[in-house]
Amino acid sequence: MASSTASEADALNPGAPLFIYALRQVTEAAALAACKWIGRGDKNRGDAAAVDAMRTALDRLPFSGTVVIGEGEKDEAPQLAKGLHVGGLSDGPQYDIAVDPVEGTTFLANGQTNAMAVLALAPRGAMFDPGPAFYMEKFAAPAAARGAIEPDWPTARKLRTLSDILGKPVGKLTVFVLEKPRHRRLVEEIHAAGARVALYPAGDVAGAIVAASPDPSIDALMGTGGTPEGIITACAIRALGGAFMGRLDPQLPSEQIAVRDAGLDTRTWLPLEQLVQSSDVLFCATGITTGLLFDGVEKTDNLSRTQTLMISGLTGERQLLTTTRPYAAEATEEAPHA
Ligand code: FBP
Repeated sequence: MASSTASEADALNPGAPLFIYALRQVTEAAALAACKWIGRGDKNRGDAAAVDAMRTALDRLPFSGTVVIGEGEKDEAPQLAKGLHVGGLSDGPQYDIAVDPVEGTTFLANGQTNAMAVLALAPRGAMFDPGPAFYMEKFAAPAAARGAIEPDWPTARKLRTLSDILGKPVGKLTVFVLEKPRHRRLVEEIHAAGARVALYPAGDVAGAIVAASPDPSIDALMGTGGTPEGIITACAIRALGGAFMGRLDPQLPSEQIAVRDAGLDTRTWLPLEQLVQSSDVLFCATGITTGLLFDGVEKTDNLSRTQTLMISGLTGERQLLTTTRPYAAEATEEAPHA
């Protein structure tokens, strides 16, 4: 683990506005490592490459963090395990970190759009602990919908209210939904209400961020996806200022038993402020393959280019950073199995 001097840590700690420019190196390293596995049909090895690169890059940063939301447990995939200490400092203020080294492992393995490396950082104890819950029902919409739509209303009522709020006919609303058998009825309800559905096989972090942004292409996200992705999304939307709520919605029989035994509430929709209890959150995501939010990694003989979305709850800024770097710099980030 890299060690840092006190003065370095003072100049660049997670409470400093510039820290996000250091943090983006972590998702960029993961994306650069994972891109070697685009379209190779092996999601676990792509994920493993991103996990290793992300961990190495995190340990180079002058902060002290604990992984509280990892990813991969549900699919028994490689992961940055919950409870793992990361960062190059062992003392100083403590931060919690939520990671998804490859969000959209199937997209990566199949060479499809929308795979990205993503993480969020928040003060210690700020992120909701979902325990053994792998799945969460989610509702995302632009900021104007905050407090105006109850996520457990019938789909048609939610869409009518959203239409009024956005000043857009229901027929022109588009709802992002993961293309899963569990969503067949939801899709029928959206169609019956007269709205459009944007069906994606994976990637509801990107879907929710676009839905919460003032971007007319997607107006809302509905349906059930991963819980880790839900907490990461909540961090991004808390910093962005959009509408987001989540409800634990276990799908797997073993998960249902574990959630019940843990005494977790699966009926109540959790507001954004409960999913992330601080607005001092940082969010970074780098495209692996080109998708809704940004371009994927591009390489020429001697240069690599990445696009990273950085959202800071400290400054309220949202930036899309395009970085071109000498290709040789990646030699140290080779995937272990490549
Ligand atoms: P992976 O990166 O693990 O493949 O997850 C992608 C994803 O589609 C998420 O965006 C979503 O929240 C979750 O999987 C849904 O899980 P499932 O595919 O098991 O329904």
